Amino acid sequence: MISRPKGTYDVLPNEVKAWTKLESTIRKVCQIYNYQEIRTPIFESGSVFHRDVNDTSDMVNKETYDFKDRSNRDITLRPEGTAGVVRAFIENKLYATSKMNKLFYIGPMFRYERPQKGRNRQFSQFGVEALGSNDPLLDAEVIALGASLIKALGLKNVKVKINSIGDKESRDKYREACVKYFNAYKEDLCSDCLIRLEKNPLRILDCKVDRDKDFFKNAPKIKDYLNESSLKHFEAVLNALKEMKISYEIDDNLVRGLDYYSHTVFELEVDILEFGAQNVIGAGGRYDSLVRDMQGPDTPGVGMAFGMERLLLACEYGGKVLSTLDYLHVYFIVLGQEAKKAALAQMNICRLGGLFCDMDYLDRGLKAQFKAADEHRAMFTCILGENELKDFKINIKNNETDVQETISLYEVYPYVLNHLNNKSACTSCKEKEVKKDE
Ligand code: HAM
Repeated sequence: MISRPKGTYDVLPNEVKAWTKLESTIRKVCQIYNYQEIRTPIFESGSVFHRDVNDTSDMVNKETYDFKDRSNRDITLRPEGTAGVVRAFIENKLYATSKMNKLFYIGPMFRYERPQKGRNRQFSQFGVEALGSNDPLLDAEVIALGASLIKALGLKNVKVKINSIGDKESRDKYREACVKYFNAYKEDLCSDCLIRLEKNPLRILDCKVDRDKDFFKNAPKIKDYLNESSLKHFEAVLNALKEMKISYEIDDNLVRGLDYYSHTVFELEVDILEFGAQNVIGAGGRYDSLVRDMQGPDTPGVGMAFGMERLLLACEYGGKVLSTLDYLHVYFIVLGQEAKKAALAQMNICRLGGLFCDMDYLDRGLKAQFKAADEHRAMFTCILGENELKDFKINIKNNETDVQETISLYEVYPYVLNHLNNKSACTSCKEKEVKKDE
């Protein structure tokens, strides 16, 4: 048997509803905040992600799927959305059409990580990128959008953790302090942190191996190195969050795993025991030099991305029920080849009218066909055998009320439609009508 690659999963028909519901909730929230959808390729030139030899992020250095195509080009499966969106922003000169671009995307990302619950090698992200302004209120808006999604999904106990890593001047000063401090503990640092010490000492704070070691407690804190304008930016973000009544927690050690950030960085954490280390459902921050670093015009940006699998899992642990049950308006039970042909014609009329229908194609017995109607949660079951067909009649049963009638074969569609439109129809049928409209 050929099985799926490690770290991937199939979304089976009974699970797809939850995905589409999540996607429609996301689209609605994005419309409310005036973010437009963008779709970029799943694979990009390797240089979109492998930009800087000094990049120390695990994602860029250890986790990308890189390969040569048949023309020997370097290709990378996108591990995240931001760099691809920025590439598209520059290549399509979106900055020329609008001073402000508020974009969102939904789609698969690829990272070669050790798979576990909530961590996959192919996973999906919903992300937003707001390009064009360095206003701290925009950082707050992005976080507010995330909070609105969380609310719309009915998720409770989600914590916003936030920090500022300041502008370049502040980070340079902080870097110096870190190098001085950690140099004294070189012997105790893990091999990755030794590289980080050379290339990007800030990232040492993010180290899962060294984080709990004693000398970490007295390591310099970025907040003590923020210059005046960085402090002002951070305070403005926090004040805006307060104004919008979005609670947050400042986390001094939050630096985030990607190298392009400046100023605001944040993570959204769910408090669900079973999630373990995968409790970060969304994260983001400001990136004021990424567009320039990718050879675009100097354009500041801020964004965020959610792991959609983690959002769905969180919903299962106490959020909204996203999966709604399927149903049919009519299931046709057919006995004999002639009846089958006649039923197909009537079913087609119903379908052209927008009714959800199906019939038996397996020549099963009466009992098995009734069972199928049940399994499909059919509102009506039509039974057509040779006797009925002779008289151009059909039996129709309302499965809600158990009322059964014999009607003209050609009346099925108006009969069911009339029932659906009938104000006195039973409540659960009306509910089904509403669901249909959603
Ligand atoms: P990130 O923190 O690398 O940020 O990923 C964002 C979210 O994607 C994570 O919080 C997590 O929920 C989900 N995620 C990441 N890796 C996996 C995985 N292997 N399996 C399942 N879910 C995963 C970014 O990607 C940035 N591009 C976010 C951003 C947008 N910053 C600015 N704009």
